[in-house]
Amino acid sequence: MPDIEVWSAPGRVNLIGEHTDYNEGFVLPFAIDRRTTAELVVRDDRTIRVTSTFADRAVEIALDDLGPDRLDGWSAYPLGVAWALGHWADTSGVPGVEIHIDSTVPVGAGLSSSAAIESAVAVALNDTWRLGLDRPTLARVGQLAENKAVGAPTGIMDQSASLLGRADHAVFLDCRSLESQLVELGFATAGLELLVIDTGVSHAHATGGYAARRASCELGARLLGVAALRDIGVDDLDRARDVLDDETFRRVRHIVTENQRVLDTVRVLRDEGPTAIGGLLDASHASMRDDFEISVPELDLAVETAQAAGALGARMTGGGFGGAAIALVPSGSLTEVRAAVERAFAERGFAAPTQFTVAASEGARRGL
Ligand code: GLA
Repeated sequence: MPDIEVWSAPGRVNLIGEHTDYNEGFVLPFAIDRRTTAELVVRDDRTIRVTSTFADRAVEIALDDLGPDRLDGWSAYPLGVAWALGHWADTSGVPGVEIHIDSTVPVGAGLSSSAAIESAVAVALNDTWRLGLDRPTLARVGQLAENKAVGAPTGIMDQSASLLGRADHAVFLDCRSLESQLVELGFATAGLELLVIDTGVSHAHATGGYAARRASCELGARLLGVAALRDIGVDDLDRARDVLDDETFRRVRHIVTENQRVLDTVRVLRDEGPTAIGGLLDASHASMRDDFEISVPELDLAVETAQAAGALGARMTGGGFGGAAIALVPSGSLTEVRAAVERAFAERGFAAPTQFTVAASEGARRGL
């Protein structure tokens, strides 16, 4: 029997810093206690074969035939990673592998089930093929796979959270330099729970709104004469208002104020602790709803209901247009917040949301 080895990588919740990653700004996500596993067996040829618990079909391809245009469906994530590794390392002599993928990260909830697959496969192949790539580079590998093999123009946040996360910490990432710091969250010590409210409204970042928002940001940066919106501060917004049309201005204002909110959240977490960040979460949601316009009625309802029922703060998390909201809730109010959200969805005739708490957890690793 060949040796089976296993690697795993988590999904993520973004605490704050939405759509700032591809603007070379700041994000503050954390890895969650829902993981994807990649079991790996080395073959004696140069074929890669992937299977998963969520698809009937195995997909098999020669390593030398891998290319972004030859991959589709779910297998584009793991096979895209195998292809993308070749951009940073010499994979010409590596052996073929069998990879089996399983996951407890909910799909389509905005919790980065895709980055969890990419990161689990990236660490598994990096170790097995002895490529010696570091974690920030593996994040780039996952992003390249997602951008080119899957076709979603996403940033570097999700893969970074999945690869760099630590128990009870968020990853404060500068998406320009890729330098990161771990910031202690301390939710449990402060008697807080992080509730995820998955609206069940589906979103796909390979199409539609996500790419349109990215294009607006690039237009704004071009018209303002900067390399990326990272280079604009809150003090520059008056000038931006004179230069930009109203819609582009509001897109820019979201990014600029959101970058500032990430910096403020890090400072508040360090100086005052997690009970003091609620207002920043609320402001982030309002900015995404009104300026960036990526919320949907179900997300707004989840956020408003959680806030009214005792959450310290709440916001949609992830790319938007569906997926999940998060609420920071004192443990004693958790039952009431969940029940209030359940009731509010029923009253509005929305499908019942899925609610669960998450804890900040370890990033990708060998083992489960
Ligand atoms: C998705 C993308 C990320 C990021 C977020 C929005 O999760 O994959 O790169 O842009 O949306 O913050």
